[in-house]
Amino acid sequence: MDQSEKWTEIDHYFSTNLHASDPIMDSVRKANAEANLPAIDVSPNQGKLLYLLATLKGAKNILEIGTLGGYSSIWLARALPNDGKLITLESNDQHAKVAHENIKNAGLDGKVEILVGAALDTLPTLEPKGFSDFDLIFIDADKPNIPHYVKWALKLSRPGAVIIVDNVVRKGHVIDDNSEDLGVQGIRQMVDWLSEEPRIDSTAIQTVGTKGYDGFVLGVVKE
Ligand code: SAH
Ligand code: DHB
Ligand code: MG
Repeated sequence: MDQSEKWTEIDHYFSTNLHASDPIMDSVRKANAEANLPAIDVSPNQGKLLYLLATLKGAKNILEIGTLGGYSSIWLARALPNDGKLITLESNDQHAKVAHENIKNAGLDGKVEILVGAALDTLPTLEPKGFSDFDLIFIDADKPNIPHYVKWALKLSRPGAVIIVDNVVRKGHVIDDNSEDLGVQGIRQMVDWLSEEPRIDSTAIQTVGTKGYDGFVLGVVKE
């Protein structure tokens, strides 16, 4: 067994043993595959981590940037109280349509709103619409724009908010300071910005598993 097969097997070992059987999440993954969406949703263990972080935070207002088929949206929205709300931003019409269907089937359409459009166009509309003071923000859209998304996250969050950024390790390419990959450059610009931003306390978590070698940045907005 090579290393990455082992990571995958261990990811399955924990998710099958620690998570309850989950027909809703199974049907979301099936619907996404049938609609030919790229299989780049968070893994089950990562989804459950997002759910647990939102639960720990007692999050009532969540913002997600990058919906795809709504898999991570559903994990996050499950942590919301009855009067909680998740706004999720998606630029691709077809992804948004599949996500809408999945979120409805999960019984969460009352709590989740999908805003269709490039996030840099929809983010400025949030505060005027009364969507601000988020207490958890999950950034998982196009990687070159990560520095912009983290700045928006700070602007739209309340003190104590949790900011989570997906895909910050990218098989280790993050430490290549000559990388021509605009995604890697975006992550490195975010890290430089965070290193000088006193209002956010942050760290990074490297992860292995079904999605290979990657990681999250986790930040908390200071009180
Ligand atoms: N969070 C999802 C996966 C998101 S994949 C999950 O774990 O289930 C990234 C998504 O971001 C894709 O659906 C892609 O269409 C969307 N995206 C890419 N560029 C975007 C942009 N500029 N604005 C909003 N969404 C964008
Ligand atoms: C890609 C995007 C993601 O958000 C992810 O978690 C994995 C891969 C991608 O664009 O390849
Ligand atoms: Mg991702």
